[in-house]
Amino acid sequence: MVSFYITTAISYVNGAPHLGHAYEAITTDVIARHMRQRGEDVFFLTGTDEHGEPIADAARALGVDPQRLADENAERFKALLPQLQISNDFFIRTTDEQHKLRVQQVLQRVHDNGHTYKGLYEGWYCPRCADFKVENEILDGNRCPIHETELVREQEENWFFRLSAFQERLQRLFEERPRFVMPAARFNEARAFVASGLQDVSLSRARLRWGVTVPWDPQHVFYVWFDALLNYYTALGYARDGEDLTDRYWPATYHVIGKDILKFHTVFWPAVLMAADLPVPEHVFVHGFLLGADGRKMSKSLGNVLDPYEVLERFGSDALRFYLVRDVALGADGAVGMDGVTSRYENELANEYGNLASRTIAMVHRYREGKVPACRTDAELAREFEGLAQRVCELIDRIDATAALEEIWQRVRRCNRYVEERAPWRLARDPAAGDQLDVVLASLVEGVRVLSVLLCAFIPQASGRLLDALGQPDSSLASARFAPAVAGGPVAALEPLFPRR
Ligand code: MSP
Repeated sequence: MVSFYITTAISYVNGAPHLGHAYEAITTDVIARHMRQRGEDVFFLTGTDEHGEPIADAARALGVDPQRLADENAERFKALLPQLQISNDFFIRTTDEQHKLRVQQVLQRVHDNGHTYKGLYEGWYCPRCADFKVENEILDGNRCPIHETELVREQEENWFFRLSAFQERLQRLFEERPRFVMPAARFNEARAFVASGLQDVSLSRARLRWGVTVPWDPQHVFYVWFDALLNYYTALGYARDGEDLTDRYWPATYHVIGKDILKFHTVFWPAVLMAADLPVPEHVFVHGFLLGADGRKMSKSLGNVLDPYEVLERFGSDALRFYLVRDVALGADGAVGMDGVTSRYENELANEYGNLASRTIAMVHRYREGKVPACRTDAELAREFEGLAQRVCELIDRIDATAALEEIWQRVRRCNRYVEERAPWRLARDPAAGDQLDVVLASLVEGVRVLSVLLCAFIPQASGRLLDALGQPDSSLASARFAPAVAGGPVAALEPLFPRR
């Protein structure tokens, strides 16, 4: 068994979860579920990033203790996951005592290895990013390139991390590992950032209390990004009671992140790991941003926000998962809105997959008393499925979940055409066509079964219900092969998978 460790970014708890968070969790979950179906030893981590200025500021504005704000909002992030059918193996909170302890251990090693020094930092700082900006990224009027809000000039005595000392090793990493950052455009962006010359970065904050204490200088707390990045490593130490999973899963196979935090994950993070003598992750996959239906950044004031809770309530989690993976090419930005959800739900989930499932099961009941005939399957339909599971695996290996879903969907459509072409209702009226009808029904059931196995990673609820109704709950990817003959057996009745809304 191959170990496969995949993570999402951890979310800030200064607000409620929104669609961007749901999107990242869903896309990562699709990959995790697919890899489990392949029999890999998967560990899937997500969680919340609870220290630092943004949370301290938000708490102050509300007049509450930062820990209380973190507790309340972490609960909301945690509660959203089962609603989206996210199959994470652990939920880390950076306020966990064990996380803090391990952060101190790792960064103490960085310090002992001589990669830190004390100095005066002065620069343009964005409190919302909790980040100092370098000259070439600052917008006109001293504004943050991400938030477009004005930056503040800040000066303080900090511990510094000698990022500049890792320039060569990082360059080598990018030379030797062309898939370290995916997709390629993001790889180029990260490599260019390294090539432009690295400056040391502050590792601690003296003015802030809300963070992990620097063990060798307790007047300071670690700059929140170092504390946060280390979650991927610390979690393995305590996710399972009495067991340390680090050797089993480290280094991570994939960190899945949004494009706004590229620099932290592809430059700072590998450098910190090198400084602590730890192996660097295999891949960082960078997804795009969800935009409002008008193509602009989603914002309440523009009224173009798609609310994940509203979609869940109206259409359910399969629909939200399906819509986001299908409509937004994974890796690119994409505009999303309720009209799009409605149309994918009605035209594809209900009318194509749902309808294929219902009519197949209904015909087995109508023409064969609810028993799938034991017979050969149709070689013509079988051909359409040849190599499909393999192709889906290849695409998922490139984290192209959108293309993988499209491959599957083409076969959903093919099966619907097959029903029209073979017209089982006509065969049923012809006493001489009984064998033909057997083959058509067996082939349809086999097609629907294989499709449902492949769809388990994307729409786990509906595909699971369908496999159960077929009496063939095995969802391992090895079973996603269109068999030349089926053993037959009873099928249960099935309520519509995607009822009209
Ligand atoms: N706390 C940091 C990450 C630390 S990881 C060691 C952070 N948090 S966040 O809550 O702002 O964002 C969490 C993730 O959601 C990020 O990967 C971010 O890119 C992603 N998204 C936030 N808004 C998004 C969209 N509108 N669209 C898609 N993803 C977006 O950054």
